[in-house]
Amino acid sequence: MKLSIRLAKKSDLVAYTILHQKTFQDAYTNKKIGLTKKHFSKKVFSSLRIQDYLRSNLTLTKKQKTWVVFLKSEMIGSITRTDKGKEYELRGFYVLPKYQGRGIGKQLWKHALNFAKRKDITLDIYAHQLKTINMYKKWGFKIDRKKKAFYRHWAEWPKRLKAKCIYMRLSSKS
Ligand SMILES: CC(C)(COP(=O)(O)OP(=O)(O)OC[C@H]1O[C@@H](n2cnc3c(N)ncnc32)[C@H](O)[C@@H]1OP(=O)(O)O)[C@@H](O)C(=O)NCCC(=O)NCCS
Repeated sequence: MKLSIRLAKKSDLVAYTILHQKTFQDAYTNKKIGLTKKHFSKKVFSSLRIQDYLRSNLTLTKKQKTWVVFLKSEMIGSITRTDKGKEYELRGFYVLPKYQGRGIGKQLWKHALNFAKRKDITLDIYAHQLKTINMYKKWGFKIDRKKKAFYRHWAEWPKRLKAKCIYMRLSSKS
């Protein structure tokens, strides 16, 4: 597979939105907590709030970098690294469902964070996303119990719908 990885640009917004919408819809739905495909629909992703959030990920600064990966002309993955001083935060790490499990996420990871050995790497993740939690555990991350779990609610969802999130940390000492 001939992949190309580059830093993101503001003009990537449309492709970046499609990548997120498709991947969220596939990965994060969960009957038990009532999260269905409609909560990650194209309409939800076109809301001003989410467009602003995605646009902010594409804004590169000294502290924040986003990389995107392409297969020919299709954007199939992304990763964002933010320097938070004492630690790095990992965010926006997605590979389109049909390309998952083929080593693309690992390549993005290496590109963005392999060098970051001197600082811890932290992230938050939906507690029901067990497949990815297990992947991170395999990579050396541990659940960060010092940071309390929290419930995420999107303004675009019905009032009472919320999903538990946890923090994970890869210690620089591990
Ligand atoms: C998490 C994600 C970005 C990883 O990208 P990917 O291209 O699927 O990952 P890779 O193919 O490089 O695999 C990474 C590891 O996970 C394992 N893995 C990936 N898919 C798997 C599957 N379906 N079953 C079992 N293991 C799997 C691989 O064996 C690999 O293990 P290794 O590190 O020991 O080699 C991608 O799967 C994704 O977008 N998932 C849904 C959204 C999500 O949870 N994002 C993270 C938010 S914090």
